[in-house]
Amino acid sequence: MAERALSPALDHAAFDPSREMVHGTQKSRARKNGDHCEMLTPGFSGKTETHRAERVIGHDPLRQFLVAAPGGRFQTLEMSWDPRKIEWFNVYGNEDRKPGEWGHWTGRGMNWNSMCASCHNTRVRKNYDPVKDEYHTTMAERTVSCESCHGPMKSHNEWQNHHRGAKNDPTIKKLTRNQTMETCASCHARRTELTGDFKPGDSFFDHYALTITDESDTFHPDGQVRDENYEFTSFLSSKMHAAGVVCMDCHDPHSAKTIATGDALCMRCHSVPTPQFPKAPVIVPVAHTFHKPESSGSQCINCHMPQTTYMQRHPRHDHGFTIPDPLLTKEAGTPNACNRCHTDKDADWALGFVTQWYGDKMNRPSRQRALMIAQARRGETVSRDALIAWLKGDDSPPWKASSALLLGRWTEEPAVIEALQAQLHHESTMVRSAAVHALGSISAGGSNPARDSLRPLLKDASRSVRLAAAWALRDDVSPNSPAGSELQHMLALGADQPSGRMQLGQYEYARGQFDAAIAQLRKAIEWDPNSPPFHHDLAIMLSTAGRIKEAIASLEVAIKLDPRQALYQYELGLAWSEAGDIDRATQALEQTVKLEPAMSRAWYNLGLARNSKGDTAGAIEALTRGEAANPRDAALPYARAIILLQLGKKDEALAAAQAALRAQPDLVLARELVRMLLGRSGAP
Ligand code: HEC
Ligand code: HEC
Ligand code: HEC
Ligand code: HEC
Ligand code: HEC
Ligand code: HEC
Ligand code: HEC
Repeated sequence: MAERALSPALDHAAFDPSREMVHGTQKSRARKNGDHCEMLTPGFSGKTETHRAERVIGHDPLRQFLVAAPGGRFQTLEMSWDPRKIEWFNVYGNEDRKPGEWGHWTGRGMNWNSMCASCHNTRVRKNYDPVKDEYHTTMAERTVSCESCHGPMKSHNEWQNHHRGAKNDPTIKKLTRNQTMETCASCHARRTELTGDFKPGDSFFDHYALTITDESDTFHPDGQVRDENYEFTSFLSSKMHAAGVVCMDCHDPHSAKTIATGDALCMRCHSVPTPQFPKAPVIVPVAHTFHKPESSGSQCINCHMPQTTYMQRHPRHDHGFTIPDPLLTKEAGTPNACNRCHTDKDADWALGFVTQWYGDKMNRPSRQRALMIAQARRGETVSRDALIAWLKGDDSPPWKASSALLLGRWTEEPAVIEALQAQLHHESTMVRSAAVHALGSISAGGSNPARDSLRPLLKDASRSVRLAAAWALRDDVSPNSPAGSELQHMLALGADQPSGRMQLGQYEYARGQFDAAIAQLRKAIEWDPNSPPFHHDLAIMLSTAGRIKEAIASLEVAIKLDPRQALYQYELGLAWSEAGDIDRATQALEQTVKLEPAMSRAWYNLGLARNSKGDTAGAIEALTRGEAANPRDAALPYARAIILLQLGKKDEALAAAQAALRAQPDLVLARELVRMLLGRSGAP
């Protein structure tokens, strides 16, 4: 039932009788018209249009309807049907998406060919034509069918036709446990397509880049799902999977039901040690749960697989098999299963009971890990050493990979570079590609030992690692080399989406093709006018190309869309100062530090801007604030020393120059200045 044609028996109840619904500021109407089912709703023109529902995605608890659109497209209507409550609802909840927006049902965000088809059907090939902006999408069969999991079966059919249903069919290759799980993962994972060409038996990581717990809050810091992430990442991150458990130990692939119901499913492994899974802890339910046996609070999955509802109506179980921990709610803002049920109580209440019930057993490595990740996301430097230690010590690939990604923001630190480089040959594909990704944030240009250490990975055995390396080295990877051409293929695959156009733009930009880069970003903006990063990236490209006026205009759009983003204000300040308008530059930089007082570089530029306006007192104040924010940046005290010297305040200038030397002992300019101020003869 993943996808099918509209059927009178199953679907007419949604359209007959005709119903009107109000969503946000808009109105839509569902109705039957002869044999057709129609939706009257604001459409491509911005006005109400009539569209015929042709196909259905999903079955229970919700159904979404597809309508045909120009260029071989299908689009997914936002008005969706709840067959239990017998009502229409907006799949975006209270959002009031409008025509022209990327995420409106007419936009590319709700385009079936690109966004839905591959997981809801069998062996889909998207076949996008970037010149005509058309699709020629094909599939082996509609819906998730046999070949989705068993792979191409033509030779099997031919052999069976010749051998009249004989046993021992040599064309059948049984997949390993891991191959089967990675087949489930091809659809049950939040991931980016690298090839558009997965088939069962292939390695998942040769075809997809998996989204894992990282700096964004796609996942909570303890690995619980937050955004719509399906099952694979959380399960891969669990201790249960680390001990060898796979999807098929709980699920029957043909009925899609679990192989036992309720606690019995869990107790297959957790009641007595089994030969296959000797590490599974033995659990005695009554003693373990502290709830009455008949209470919902005593069921394993209610504490270890809490539910989150997606698409307004679809509750799903977390497959991270995490421990409910109210302490993490207090310190890291994660939800905990106890308070999901006991909504009238707070985290302190729940913490009191788990401490009393489970004592020291609550203080597990996974708790420390979650606290570390929460700190790293807040940018707290204290987490850096902890991440390095985790990267070295932990043996769970997904969590090693998360540590590597989180270290990406500190790649100016030699200890961080060293720790990441040590993982470049780890046996896990996830770990290698995360380490490459993090090291790839070191800026391009010239020969740099850390970047050069990525070059051998262009020949890695796994495609996701090769691609991570090719992307990190995109400024000079040859398009004709094997990894370079794989990168071309991946970039072309994404060319139907604005984010793909942004990537294409970044690729051209890194290679000095500014006009081509700018054209890609303009396309991204045409398809999604409301995403601030597109306007920001475009501005950076325009400014590098010397088109400073256009860059400023583009930054102003970014700021209008996201006024709280300090980085945009900062870039605007730099752009105005490049354009020679110091007043506006000062204004923008003042706005920057108001939004992000810890941004020492903004204080630095503000100091310079104020100084060039003759406001030396203001300049010194800004530089001092910047030094407090980042005592390790020698540029700030050095600039302050120069200003003080110009003011004739030699003693203060000396102290400032010495502060610069403390921050960066090899800063030649500062050393010269100290020497000069000490009267040449004095030792620095
Ligand atoms: C990465 C693969 C993937 C993509 C892309 C995807 N889905 Fe799904 N979808 C799933 C999976 C897997 C489920 C089953 C729920 C789960 O795994 O938790 C699902 C469930 C659903 C359901 C609920 C099923 C039911 O029977 O009620 C609907 C409706 C749905 N998807 C619609 C869409 C639409 C519309 C799109 C495109 C805009 C889309 N999906 C894109 C994988 C995907
Ligand atoms: C969601 C994935 C999935 C789909 C869809 C699927 N299968 Fe399977 N099938 C499996 C897995 C996994 C196994 C192996 C079970 C095992 O090894 O215990 C299997 C086993 C089988 C077997 C071996 C006998 C058995 O039952 O264990 C046959 C025959 C089979 N499938 C036929 C089909 C046919 C025909 C279809 C389509 C109507 C189909 N399968 C659809 C995943 C799937
Ligand atoms: C080609 C994509 C694809 C593959 C491969 C796939 N699934 Fe799914 N699966 C889906 C989609 C889409 C849905 C939701 C559609 C629906 O419920 O009708 C789904 C639904 C499910 C459900 C929920 C069913 C329900 O009634 O709630 C389970 C459980 C499931 N899949 C397990 C598996 C397992 C286990 C495997 C591997 C053996 C697997 N799937 C392979 C796409 C896939
Ligand atoms: C230890 C047992 C276990 C393992 C392993 C497991 N699941 Fe589940 N899964 C469950 C349970 C329990 C449910 C809830 C089912 C229910 O209520 O009927 C569930 C539900 C689901 C659903 C339905 C949507 C939801 O979340 O409620 C999907 C889809 C699913 N599992 C996919 C997978 C996939 C894919 C894997 C492997 C990557 C996997 N599961 C591994 C136990 C397991
Ligand atoms: C196929 C066997 C198997 C099944 C079925 C199974 N488990 Fe496990 N479980 C394990 C193993 C093995 C471990 C890993 C123990 C270890 O390495 O410490 C584990 C660990 C756990 C952990 C500890 C996680 C942690 O971070 O310490 C929890 C919680 C858990 N299982 C809950 C469940 C629940 C709930 C179910 C039922 C939905 C279930 N298990 C079903 C084998 C199983
Ligand atoms: C009321 C919530 C709750 C319920 C219900 C619950 N657990 Fe737990 N579980 C916890 C907490 C809290 C911990 C961590 C403390 C501990 O290790 O005892 C935990 C730990 C575990 C562990 C890891 C034990 C270890 O030694 O590392 C396993 C395995 C587990 N639970 C399985 C289960 C199974 C199986 C069930 C169903 C019979 C279940 N849990 C029901 C709260 C619950
Ligand atoms: C699925 C919902 C659910 C979850 C999850 C759950 N509980 Fe409960 N809890 C209940 C229900 C229902 C009762 C009343 C019946 C009983 O005592 O078992 C209860 C009773 C209690 C009580 C005794 C009555 C009271 O209110 O003082 C305490 C204490 C408690 N839970 C704490 C916890 C803690 C701590 C956790 C997490 C480790 C937790 N619960 C997880 C549903 C839940």
